[in-house]
Amino acid sequence: MDLADGLIDHPYDVYARLRDSAPVHRITGPDGTPAWLVTRYEDVRAALGDPRLSLDKAHATAGTYKGFALPPALDANLLNMDPPDHTRIRRLVSRAFTPRRVEHLREPIRRTADRLLDGFGPHGTIDLVAAYAAPLPITVICDLLGIPDEHRLDFRVWTDTLVAPDPARPGAGREAVVAMLGYLTRLLADKRAEPADDLLSDLIAVRDEGDRLTEDELMSLAFLILFAGYENTVQLIGNAVLALLRHPEQFAALRKDPARLPAAVEEFARYEGPALFGIRRFPTEDVTIGGVTVPAGETVWVSLSAANRDPARFPDPDRLDLGRDASGHLALGQGIHYCLGAPLARAETEIAVGAVLERFPDLALADEDIRWRPSLRARGLLALPVTY
Ligand code: HEM
Repeated sequence: MDLADGLIDHPYDVYARLRDSAPVHRITGPDGTPAWLVTRYEDVRAALGDPRLSLDKAHATAGTYKGFALPPALDANLLNMDPPDHTRIRRLVSRAFTPRRVEHLREPIRRTADRLLDGFGPHGTIDLVAAYAAPLPITVICDLLGIPDEHRLDFRVWTDTLVAPDPARPGAGREAVVAMLGYLTRLLADKRAEPADDLLSDLIAVRDEGDRLTEDELMSLAFLILFAGYENTVQLIGNAVLALLRHPEQFAALRKDPARLPAAVEEFARYEGPALFGIRRFPTEDVTIGGVTVPAGETVWVSLSAANRDPARFPDPDRLDLGRDASGHLALGQGIHYCLGAPLARAETEIAVGAVLERFPDLALADEDIRWRPSLRARGLLALPVTY
């Protein structure tokens, strides 16, 4: 079956039908090749912890997967590897990307949020994605990595091109990859020549200390952190604000009691997390999922969004309920590939939503006709026009 159409506009109806009818479905994946889709919570959770489901494309039967084509210098990243390489690199990054570093980012995040909201003026109409949800994470991730201000806009354009390709510009994705690679090469050379107090400089030090990261691995890591750290966070902030605007009583309640923000962020992630279609895996041997045998080497898509709306795990799953216990949601993954940036993603979303609630109590949708980006990679809004 071809999922693309219904999935963008009515993903949760499509997923409810799929979950009800069978545990695993034969589909055409986003890359146009045949694949399997897993949608039930228990199966998704089990799949994420199953070491026989590899992230390494070398385990895909030749010609069966045509996903994201990146040059080796960007492709040697955590999301394409299994242990032991994955274990080695993840340990090295965790040493540089510590909870303390994230804690130190909280104040700068709030300052950036305030600065952006100051720019709105006292009242008006604005696209909250373009003016707030997008610039905030790009500022945070570029500060974290040590990317100078003047290159941040370029980076945003490249990422958007990769995540939501424009069919009218088929060569644009390739150009964006080449530009990004060139940029990261220069940036790493600069940081190596002149280290600063940032994550990239620390990762370079780790690489140069004992050759425990290859140059490709270092470059790919920088790419992954930039890409993953920006794209998903933009969407979660935008989706969270939209969810609140559509539930004014919960908007008011959360505004009154901001101590509930951390729990609310978990519910936003469960309810409208960015990983709409899912994440991909390749079985290293025949694997039975929900009673269905998936042959080795075929592509399996594990849908986090479908799992998060499974009534068998979350009662009344299509209801936004900021009071519910949403822990156990899978929006940030699970197992050894669990989102490395989860503490930062949570902090950013909490601060971003909190600042909006505080500053604009009468925020409202300027247009009920909300449109989603035509992308299966990350569920996000084309725009979020609001009045305040
Ligand atoms: C709301 C925001 C975010 C969401 C929804 C999200 C989601 C995810 C998910 C689902 C995975 C697992 C993928 C898989 O198992 O195949 C993942 C992994 C990862 N994320 Fe995030 N992420 C977010 C923000 C961030 C941020 C802010 C950073 C970095 C600063 C980041 C860095 C990473 C990295 C490096 C991995 C790979 C970890 C590994 O393979 O060991 N993410 N993320």
